[in-house]
Amino acid sequence: MMGGMGSIIFRCGMAMLLFSLAACGGGDGGTTATSGVVSGVVTDAGTGMPLANAVVSEGAAMATTDAGGVYTLVRPVGDHILTVSAAGYLTTSRRCTVAPGATVSHDWWLTTAHPAYIDYSSAGLISTIPASTMNYVVLAWNDLGMHCAQDDYSAFCILPPFNTLHAQVIRRGGGVITSGITVSYSFAKKANSAANTNFWQYAAKYGWNAAPNVGITGTPLAGTMKVDANSLGFVAEGIPLTPYDDDGTWDPYATAAITVTDTASGAVLATTQVVAPVSTEMNCSNCHGMTNTYQNILQAHDRRNGTTLVADRAAGTLHLCGECHADNALGLPGKSGVKNLSLAMHGFHQDKLVSAGASTSSACYNCHPGPRTNCLRGTMFHASQTCTDCHGDMGTMTRVLANGRQPWLQEPRCGDCHGSGHQENSATLYRNSVLTNSPDPKMDGRLYCEACHNSTHAEYTSANPVDNGIPRQYQGDSYWIWNCYVCHTDYMPMPSMHQ
Ligand code: HEC
Ligand code: HEC
Ligand code: HEC
Ligand code: HEC
Ligand code: HEC
Ligand code: HEC
Ligand code: HEC
Repeated sequence: MMGGMGSIIFRCGMAMLLFSLAACGGGDGGTTATSGVVSGVVTDAGTGMPLANAVVSEGAAMATTDAGGVYTLVRPVGDHILTVSAAGYLTTSRRCTVAPGATVSHDWWLTTAHPAYIDYSSAGLISTIPASTMNYVVLAWNDLGMHCAQDDYSAFCILPPFNTLHAQVIRRGGGVITSGITVSYSFAKKANSAANTNFWQYAAKYGWNAAPNVGITGTPLAGTMKVDANSLGFVAEGIPLTPYDDDGTWDPYATAAITVTDTASGAVLATTQVVAPVSTEMNCSNCHGMTNTYQNILQAHDRRNGTTLVADRAAGTLHLCGECHADNALGLPGKSGVKNLSLAMHGFHQDKLVSAGASTSSACYNCHPGPRTNCLRGTMFHASQTCTDCHGDMGTMTRVLANGRQPWLQEPRCGDCHGSGHQENSATLYRNSVLTNSPDPKMDGRLYCEACHNSTHAEYTSANPVDNGIPRQYQGDSYWIWNCYVCHTDYMPMPSMHQ
């Protein structure tokens, strides 16, 4: 079983390598066959202006950008980790593959350094961040950058309303704590999902026995979080949110209030606000008709595949797509011989996307939320990365899925672009990975990547300010958690977080 998974992961890894190659671009150069050229532009991620005098390097080999931000560096053929640094900006590195005699283009987008990053050397800085006055901090996040739900469940179900919140509680100077405390969550503006979706009217027809405002795993809209599987933090899995507030306002980025109390005394130890993103902006109506959209989809499915989904609906039987098409998001095995849902959807629609922009985020926004929601908003969005830079376009996705990639379980990896110093744990998704190369062995394995970086598609610094509330609350800035004093109280040298 593990062996089988291993070989699939290997294939998937190769495919991702191809994606990063594609991201590096192609071209031709005039060097010998044992080396090639890396060239590109270094830009300020905030202003989009080119950066002069930035240094792109690998060991002793280095090149400096000209007034237009352009650099050129000759490297031996093969895989390289290049690093770029510029005064006043965070140093960053990325993987690039050099081909014989060719020029690969590799552009960079640099984030301005927080002042304390440049000059933190004085011990006085311990008291400059907001967390310095707190005894406890709670870092919280959603597992995914976006959850999709439907506006209407009367015809079929792709995915039910299902959000998952995580939290880690740190006693400053005392490490991660999971006992003696109670962590609860609630939504000020979303206490009654049942008023905004017909999900509970039909839930039983999909085999779920869920009371109104309770999710398919028994989780309500407000309650207590449970200790997670790794005993590192707390989780509320499957909160049945909709993008509508109780008063009907559309808000796909509502925040949950997280409250940490001392279980014995009931005293409040820490509070924070975290985004629980959810959107119903699956624009099937772009092509399947503005009215009776879902009925039209069932008709097309019956006509093309000889199913009886329309007649079943009329007779009161509704289907989960995952009943026949395997869906790892819901743990449904599907029927043998039928494609998994991701392969069926992306494969069938790959040549149906009318626009010339079939390889951009806007193509994916036909079904993923969407031009109104803008679910892609994390730090890579600032760096002009689109869905296809990480996932491949519809055609590539289809090929890789047809070759055995397990949807939802095998996804793009940070390490594919950022290298082994900044990678996920082996055979583990980003959302389940923990930092293992921290400044101290005692700190290794204690903190989730998402505690410091937030979820994929919404990585700090997010273009949507509401996502950045937690670093602002504790650090006073919108970067990922970088300041040691968010969690520590003793003065210490502040090296790189990833060793
Ligand atoms: C397709 C390649 C790619 C993937 C995959 C990727 N990144 Fe990035 N990332 C970039 C680029 C490009 C930048 C902009 C900086 C640069 O030019 O290197 C960046 C920048 C960042 C930065 C800001 C660094 C700085 O100094 O400003 C962080 C933090 C980051 N990425 C985290 C992540 C995390 C976490 C993941 C996985 C969830 C991830 N990245 C996956 C390409 C990628
Ligand atoms: C860019 C246009 C476009 C979008 C957006 C789109 N579809 Fe389609 N879809 C098509 C076309 C074209 C067909 C073929 C229709 C026909 O044969 O009558 C189709 C057919 C289908 C079929 C039947 C395929 C089969 O062989 O059984 C299903 C199911 C389907 N779409 C589901 C969806 C869902 C669900 C969404 C939204 C998440 C969606 N589509 C969004 C264009 C689109
Ligand atoms: C009763 C079983 C059943 C249900 C329920 C079902 N499908 Fe299918 N679907 C099939 C079969 C069988 C095929 C044809 C075989 C295949 O493509 O694997 C098919 C084909 C498709 C295709 C075309 C794939 C291709 O490559 O041509 C799409 C897209 C699709 N289904 C989407 C959906 C969606 C979306 C739902 C839920 C709205 C759904 N299906 C529900 C059985 C089902
Ligand atoms: C025609 C509609 C449609 C389009 C267009 C579309 N998707 Fe999807 N996608 C879906 C549906 C429906 C699901 C949910 C399937 C499930 O529940 O398993 C999904 C799931 C996914 C998943 C999670 C499952 C997996 O394969 O790992 C990824 C990743 C994904 N889409 C990426 C993309 C990207 C990238 C694009 C653009 C290149 C894109 N999608 C375009 C309909 C679409
Ligand atoms: C910088 C790289 C990057 C970009 C850009 C990106 N994704 Fe992802 N995506 C990821 C990673 C990494 C994961 C896996 C997260 C994990 O391992 O927990 C993922 C997972 C997903 C999933 C599965 C559910 C989830 O959130 O884990 C879907 C669906 C998806 N992406 C769709 C998209 C769409 C649509 C776009 C463009 C609007 C997009 N992605 C842009 C890196 C990216
Ligand atoms: C305790 C907070 C923390 C945790 C946990 C954490 N990181 Fe980071 N991460 C940082 C900081 C701070 C940086 C900035 C560079 C540095 O200090 O090493 C960073 C930088 C990055 C970058 C950008 C690298 C670059 O060259 O621009 C990536 C990618 C990344 N981390 C991925 C991860 C992954 C994957 C995990 C989990 C395995 C993780 N991080 C866990 C704090 C954290
Ligand atoms: C998000 C919280 C967090 C941040 C930020 C953080 N640490 Fe830690 N650190 C921990 C945890 C948790 C432990 C393990 C303590 C325990 O449980 O015993 C730890 C342990 C340590 C230890 C071992 C000694 C001790 O005090 O327990 C050192 C040294 C350390 N961290 C250094 C750093 C440095 C340097 C930085 C900044 C680059 C940093 N940490 C940032 C959470 C954090």
